[in-house]
Amino acid sequence: MSPAPAAPRRDAWLVRSVAVTAAIFVVSAVVGFIVLPLAQPDLRLAGIWDAICSAAGVAAEPSKTTPVEPAYKLSSVVMTPDMLDSQDAQSIGRGATLAHQCAICHGPAGISRADSPTLSGQYAAAIYKQLQDFKTGARVNAIMTPFAEHLSEQDMVDIAAYYAYLPRLPGPRPAKGRPPPRIVINGAPMRGIAPCGSCHGDLDNKAGSPWLGGQSAVYFRDQLQAFATGERRNDINQQMRNIARQMTPAEIEAAALYYAGEPASVERLPPR
Ligand code: HEC
Ligand code: HEC
Repeated sequence: MSPAPAAPRRDAWLVRSVAVTAAIFVVSAVVGFIVLPLAQPDLRLAGIWDAICSAAGVAAEPSKTTPVEPAYKLSSVVMTPDMLDSQDAQSIGRGATLAHQCAICHGPAGISRADSPTLSGQYAAAIYKQLQDFKTGARVNAIMTPFAEHLSEQDMVDIAAYYAYLPRLPGPRPAKGRPPPRIVINGAPMRGIAPCGSCHGDLDNKAGSPWLGGQSAVYFRDQLQAFATGERRNDINQQMRNIARQMTPAEIEAAALYYAGEPASVERLPPR
């Protein structure tokens, strides 16, 4: 009888190193594909398989994931550069009639003496957007919301046309002659703030950015503070929140005082 074939000699070191490598692989796979994805609160994963797919970069089936809804309403208005640019006499006339109910706070000629925002000479698109946002609840204000709620689409277009048609006049408390503060002219490039006028009309008007000249300083300051805290969040893509958060209280104050005293001096841009 021939002797049984010798069992292949195992090198104990080889076995151990393969085992250790395999163990490291398994542990890192579990940590990387399961533990870490599940630890991310924003991912909202349904289970282990979801976690593995998400770590591997495979898109989850849309039906399985619930869309992330913010706890508050966002503005649903789509702004375009030439929105409401044309001035139609009939629309302006109808707007004038509708605006009687607004005069008690916004002033008979659209210039408020009660620290409500001044509306005369405001861009039609900006007024229309704010009225829409009050109506949908994207911008919340106990005083304004009830007025906007009963306005129809056409009412908003007409009111916007009327106020845009009114001239820009000096505000009730003009502090004339203030030189524009640095934050207004240059913005603050290191903090990502563009010059205010690049959106608000002194240099260019980005759709939906309101004209600021002649605005009540009290209202102006309140709005910047509300953007900074996120209490007001109807600005599309957080355009104004990102700026207001980066402004110092002194800069907010300087901009508010400057704009309150800088009403009609800059000509309205010609319609595009
Ligand atoms: C009882 C006073 C009152 C009445 C009446 C009133 N508003 Fe207002 N309105 C306000 C106040 C206060 C604000 C500022 C709200 C805030 O601080 O967010 C405002 C804000 C606005 C804004 C936003 C302006 C901006 O620059 O962002 C628009 C547009 C506006 N109102 C239009 C109207 C129209 C149109 C009417 C009439 C249908 C009207 N309001 C009636 C008090 C009033
Ligand atoms: C990138 C464009 C952009 C720049 C730059 C910008 N803003 Fe604005 N701002 C907006 C837009 C858009 C809105 C309107 C937000 C909305 O839809 O409610 C707004 C709204 C405001 C309002 C509220 C006005 C109102 O009537 O409700 C104030 C105040 C304001 N901006 C101040 C400033 C100041 C001060 C600066 C410069 C330091 C500045 N903004 C720079 C885009 C801009």
